[in-house]
Parts: sequence; structure tokens; C-alpha cells
Amino acid sequence: MADPTVETVRRVDAYLTDTLVGRDASLDAVIAAQHEAGMPAIEVAPVSGKMLHLLTRISGARRVLEIGTLGGYSTIWLARALPEGGRVVSIEAEPANAEVARRNVENAGVTDRVEVRVGRGTDVLPTLQGGAPFDLVFIDADKESNTTYLDWAARLGRPGTVVVLDNIGRNGEVADPDATDSKVQGTRRGLAMLGEDPRFDATALQTLDRKGWDGIAVAIVVAAGPRA
Ligand code: DHB
Ligand code: MG
Repeated sequence: MADPTVETVRRVDAYLTDTLVGRDASLDAVIAAQHEAGMPAIEVAPVSGKMLHLLTRISGARRVLEIGTLGGYSTIWLARALPEGGRVVSIEAEPANAEVARRNVENAGVTDRVEVRVGRGTDVLPTLQGGAPFDLVFIDADKESNTTYLDWAARLGRPGTVVVLDNIGRNGEVADPDATDSKVQGTRRGLAMLGEDPRFDATALQTLDRKGWDGIAVAIVVAAGPRA
């Protein structure tokens, strides 16, 4: 097996992006606006944004919950996958990020289907109880709270809800049980929960793209609600 190098990974990522995703002026503008606002460039890669978009369409999702809006890049990919009347509720802890995201969402022409809620997930998520269940949940926020967010995904979902958890590879550190980084520890706790909590059935894929070596977990909610 040839070992990937940073260069070959970038070349393949560019090739796949050019071949399958293409360029999009309003998504390029989102990246530029995030950069201008001084946000870290940690939005999902275009190939992953399109993966989220396709998972949304494949699952026929109408109600999508995103935890961690950042500048709205993934939010727009998700919103564009929705049928008429569909909705993305996206939670962002940082008010300045939420402002940038709202502008980006507006510029992308999907304001009618996106609602950015400002606040910490732990504060906002309980307020979403009592509505129609979410069909797809994308978790991409502070890794330390992954188990809390997964718990809410099961509570706010229904049997069949798709859950995607970002950043499960973390440069390979995820396989280190002695990792001291709190983000790695939070990622490991989230994966352990997906493996043993009977409300979920899950797998994960490592990814190599322009952001480096990382991955996503994909799960289905098999039993919704609080853990029995
Ligand atoms: C980090 C967070 C992300 O959501 C991501 O995609 C990459 C990195 C981080 O906090 O390090
Ligand atoms: Mg992420």
C-alpha cells in the first residue's frame, strides 16, 4: 500500500472536489467571510459538505438539527438538500459566529429554511423539546460535550433519525486510550456511547481530505427518547 503524503492527499481531494462537487460562488463566499471574521478554518471539506447534503437527501430528511454552526458552511449544504417546507435548526454558541452565519445563509438564498439559534447546546437543546422530531442531526461542536449532544439527538429524534458526528479521527489520536487532549477524550466518549448505547447503531469512516486525517461517525437512532 502506498502511504499517503500531505501532497497526494491534497491532490486527490482537489481531484474529487473538482470531479464531483465543483465550485460554488456562494460557498466560496462563506469561506471568505469566515476567514475575514477571523474564524478558524475548521468547516467541513467540500467533499464532506456534499456528503452531508446527500445523506440528507437519501434519508428524505425534512427537519435537520445542526449543533455547531460556525460560519454556516455545512448549514447551507444541509439546507440545500431540503424539500420545500424543510428546516435546519442550527445552534451556535458564539454570537459573532452566528451573525456571520446568518449573513452567509442570507447570501446563499436559504434564509427561509434556516434558523440559527444562539447559545450553548446544553441551553438551547432542551428548548427544542415538544416539536416534531428531527430526521437528521449533525454534531460538530465542542468535542467535550459529544455525549450530551448524542443524548439530545436520541431525545429529539425518532427511530430512523440519522446522526452524523464530525471529527472522529483527530489525526489518529482517537485510538489512543491515554490521550490527554480533552477534545480527543470527548471524541472517544462519544464513540463509546455510539458503540454501547442501545439507542444507536453506528459505524465510522476515517477521512483524508484537505483538512487532514479525520473522520465521521454515522449512526441511526433505533430507539428514541431518554436512555432507558
Ligand atoms: C476542530 C473542530 C472541528 O469541528 C473540526 O472539524 C476540526 C477541528 C477543533 O476544535 O480542533
Ligand atoms: Mg468539525
